[in-house]
Amino acid sequence: MRTPIDRPRRLRRSVAMRALVSEVHLRVDDLVAPLFVREGIDEPQPIESLPGVMQHTRESLRTEVAELKALGVKAVILFGVPAEKDAVGSGAYDPDGIVQVALRDLVADHGDEIVLMADLCVDEYTDHGHCGVVHDDGTGRMVVDNDATLEIYAKAAIAQADAGAHVVAPSGMMDGQVAVIREALDEAGHHDVAILAYAAKYASALYGPFRDAVDVTIADGGDRKGYQQDHRNAREAIREVELDIAEGADMVMIKPALAYLDVISDVAARVDVPVAAYHVSGEYAMIHAAGERGWIDTDAVALEHLTAIKRAGANIILTYFTRWFAEHANR
Ligand code: PBG
Repeated sequence: MRTPIDRPRRLRRSVAMRALVSEVHLRVDDLVAPLFVREGIDEPQPIESLPGVMQHTRESLRTEVAELKALGVKAVILFGVPAEKDAVGSGAYDPDGIVQVALRDLVADHGDEIVLMADLCVDEYTDHGHCGVVHDDGTGRMVVDNDATLEIYAKAAIAQADAGAHVVAPSGMMDGQVAVIREALDEAGHHDVAILAYAAKYASALYGPFRDAVDVTIADGGDRKGYQQDHRNAREAIREVELDIAEGADMVMIKPALAYLDVISDVAARVDVPVAAYHVSGEYAMIHAAGERGWIDTDAVALEHLTAIKRAGANIILTYFTRWFAEHANR
């Protein structure tokens, strides 16, 4: 029988052959573990909509990070849940705010042996749940005041850097936030603190479980569509990314990940800084929910998602699967 010349199956014959020709290799070095630390609790609290993820106490956070490091994880990003919230989110820049004290603990434990990132935003700290301070736009509608918020972000960046953050990650999608933060860090002598900009962050319905994790409800049934991106737009993401790089971002992020692989791919082709993607809480929760029902294989789908994100062009992936990957899938 005549063998067709084009026979792709030859390269799929065995596990070894498939490994040899695989284009993408997901490694634990690519992953960042998002971790929540909550002020004023004595025991870690499970988060119902994020199976396996905890609101940590200061102490349990130290244990978790030590274990992650032992498993080979190279980076974590911290989110704080304060005991008290207020109109301006002062816990985000208070030197004794929960993330700042947690950063000091982790620097004492690990120095620079693990990359310590801090999410830089105020929604976890404001009583109205917005990512900035709000004011009346003149028509009786309460909207986020972009420029007043920038002043708060500058203070938060300095507080996080003073506490030992190696990377600050502004996630509020305020215009000009990267420039203001870079200038504030430099003025305070923190030239070595890097900025991971949540550059193309969409107003996504996939952040639901995260809001449970940080106890955030947006006041009056509000949303973030006035400052986060519209999911219908991809070219706008390029503009956001280019602006952030021009303002001094060292790394740029696209968020969420799986519904925006086209954006990750476009950005990776155009920029020369590291590209990160956030596989967000809803993406994680959906996989677990369907897995618990026996409808999909949780582990296989997790691996498929994370590999796809890397294949699309992300160098760095923030994912709640980091610990699982380090323990069970890092081969
Ligand atoms: C804002 C922030 C959010 C997430 C990361 N940083 C929530 C939001 O924008 O509403 C979402 C992360 C996730 O869903 O896993 N501080």
